[in-house]
Amino acid sequence: MNPELEKAVSILRRGGLVVFPTETVYGLGADAHNPEAVKKIFSVKGRPQAHPVIVHISTLEQIEQWACAVPEAAYQLAERFWPGPLTLVLRRAAGVSDVITGGQNTIGLRMPAHHIAQALLAAFGNGIAAPSANRYGHISPTTAQHVFRELGDKVDLILDGGSCAVGIESTIVDLSAEHPALLRPGWISVQQLSATIKQRLVEAQVTSPRVPGSTTSHYAPDTKLALINAEQLTMVADKLVGEGKKVAVLARSEPLKSCAHIIWRVAPQSAAGYARTLYANLRELDALSCDWILVEPPPGGPDWDAIKDRLARATVGCGDEDFD
Ligand code: TXA
Ligand code: MG
Repeated sequence: MNPELEKAVSILRRGGLVVFPTETVYGLGADAHNPEAVKKIFSVKGRPQAHPVIVHISTLEQIEQWACAVPEAAYQLAERFWPGPLTLVLRRAAGVSDVITGGQNTIGLRMPAHHIAQALLAAFGNGIAAPSANRYGHISPTTAQHVFRELGDKVDLILDGGSCAVGIESTIVDLSAEHPALLRPGWISVQQLSATIKQRLVEAQVTSPRVPGSTTSHYAPDTKLALINAEQLTMVADKLVGEGKKVAVLARSEPLKSCAHIIWRVAPQSAAGYARTLYANLRELDALSCDWILVEPPPGGPDWDAIKDRLARATVGCGDEDFD
């Protein structure tokens, strides 16, 4: 076994924390069978105890270790999209720790696609509990450097797997109730989910803190962020600069010549490219100590739903009592 992987496994076995790359974002991992280890995740993140964490697994057989009364739809989705950026919320099996489930009767399960995550899970042989490896309320990390800067001194090991290919967190679908429900949009769309299970998804009943990311300011930079339509972007930025403010823009088109005084970043045109670079862009702009980050809203279409969701949560004034 690769020595780094060997080290990661031994850290997990003795109850330590290992950050690992997934195709969505980096995860802050602990042995899911060790409640004391999982508790460390909460203190490192500064995350309230009532928030459930996803258990990452590497085989379909492991589903039954964590969940019971698993509906056929779960296997259909797992076969179609796992390993991949999809989390299934199922009824939890007897004996699963409240520390993992936040005291709820459900469990979130995901089989990640990143080769390092897969190798780690296979070598460890058990479930790994892992939320995104960021402090509570902040932007998820999509590179090892992001994690290093934010949590470097608080974890035992960071496995570097480069930039995450998807770049935004997994789609979460709840299959624990009568009707399947979307809890968090992600790269796998509602349309793909419905087509696979041949059922419509219902709107999630948001019973905070079931999915903390579903209610309010989440995925947020420290700098205030606002969504401003393309036609008004230059005018608003100019006005703020005129008031002595430092402004950064994340747009989908090049700046006008007159905008040389504004920090202007052009995001990729495709939804996939935009998602892949979104958090790195927000982190970089956040590090410039601006007064505002102005973001041009993405275009319409289902491919952009998850991106719009994350941008809306990063915006000022979208609420503040519930962070993840
Ligand atoms: O892409 C991802 O899902 C990443 C990578 C690391 O796998 N993980 C991630 O974890 O985003 P986290 O904890 O930052 O967000 C997971 C969301 C939380 O909002 C949590 O409340 C929800 O999943 N969740 C976990 N278990 C749940 C459960 N049993 N019922 C409802 N929601 C659950
Ligand atoms: Mg998170």
